[in-house]
Amino acid sequence: MAKPKKIIVTGGLGYIGSHTVVELQQRGYEVVIADNLSNSSASVADRIGRITGETPVLEVLDLSDRTACLRFFNIHADAGAVIHFAAAKAVNESVHKPLHYYRNNIDALLYVLEGMEAVGCRKLVFSSSCTVYGQPERLPVTEDTPRLEAMSPYGNTKRICEDILSDTVKASQEWKFLALRYFNPIGAHESALIGELPNGVPANLMPYITQSVAGLRPALQVFGHDYPTPDGTPVRDYIHVSDLAEAHVAAMEYLGKPGFSGMDFFNVGTGRGYSVLEVIQSFERATGKKVNYEIKERRQGDITQIWADTSKASRLLGWKACRDLDQMTSSAWKWQENLARAK
Ligand code: UD1
Repeated sequence: MAKPKKIIVTGGLGYIGSHTVVELQQRGYEVVIADNLSNSSASVADRIGRITGETPVLEVLDLSDRTACLRFFNIHADAGAVIHFAAAKAVNESVHKPLHYYRNNIDALLYVLEGMEAVGCRKLVFSSSCTVYGQPERLPVTEDTPRLEAMSPYGNTKRICEDILSDTVKASQEWKFLALRYFNPIGAHESALIGELPNGVPANLMPYITQSVAGLRPALQVFGHDYPTPDGTPVRDYIHVSDLAEAHVAAMEYLGKPGFSGMDFFNVGTGRGYSVLEVIQSFERATGKKVNYEIKERRQGDITQIWADTSKASRLLGWKACRDLDQMTSSAWKWQENLARAK
């Protein structure tokens, strides 16, 4: 078999990026990470190395700096594909800093594409989000479910980036793009050496639960108990980050299949929704720890419920999420405990 190609992973030290680097290396790919360390630490590369036996090459640069980005692609002109994670992702922050989000997320994609064009690399997997669907009328959502107007600048950057990729492909069918629309990634690698490292007070459910149970935060606030769902709390399609990482490898390999050209979209979830209270119950069952919580007002901008139809990914990518909710919540806790021990 030919030696596997070099893969560029932008944002490869981040939460989903780092798990994807592990999966790529474990399948024999050579990985180069481009990361600006804005929401990550260089030590993650060493932790990846402890899992896989090989510390990935790390280039520290800001991809929204055009000169630096083009130089980076010239150095790694032999890369076979790019998995593009690098982006700012805090929904609430994006409402207050829209210009930063548009410049950072959109410029980086444009310069990555220019860099790829300059060296003849044509395959890219893009990190999109189920946020592009807003609150859909019918569930589960398929990839053909219409996108709705974005509810935040962050969500809008995902939508705009999808459009940039679609238009680029229309101009030249040489490009091969997949956009993966993630549902709610949670959990951590089974080694507990890598996981989610939120900046400041976590805005997302799982890291807030683990930090609260660890005694680092006050009781969890459950945002709303009067939604039209079975227990009144919102329902999401939570997916184990290692399953999501495996989906990226399947997506990247799909781009190399002879028949594939152009652009396609895939939902990446489990196909099952769980409420906030069900996540809490799973955490308590899987870890034996009690989650203290109080019911509060709804959080502005939250949708009632969403879950994915994942049949397209299983049919075409040959990928399916295999880890259950208890594995997600217990691995998130193991990671939190490991972090506490490391301090
Ligand atoms: C959010 C973003 C989504 C982004 C994703 C990244 C919005 C509207 N959506 O999804 O675009 O891709 O994060 O992971 O912000 N909850 C609580 N208490 C908390 C935190 C959360 O009750 O302290 C509830 C929320 O109301 C929601 C559920 O937990 O029902 C999940 O919330 P969260 O983890 O923030 O994800 P999303 O809002 O679904």
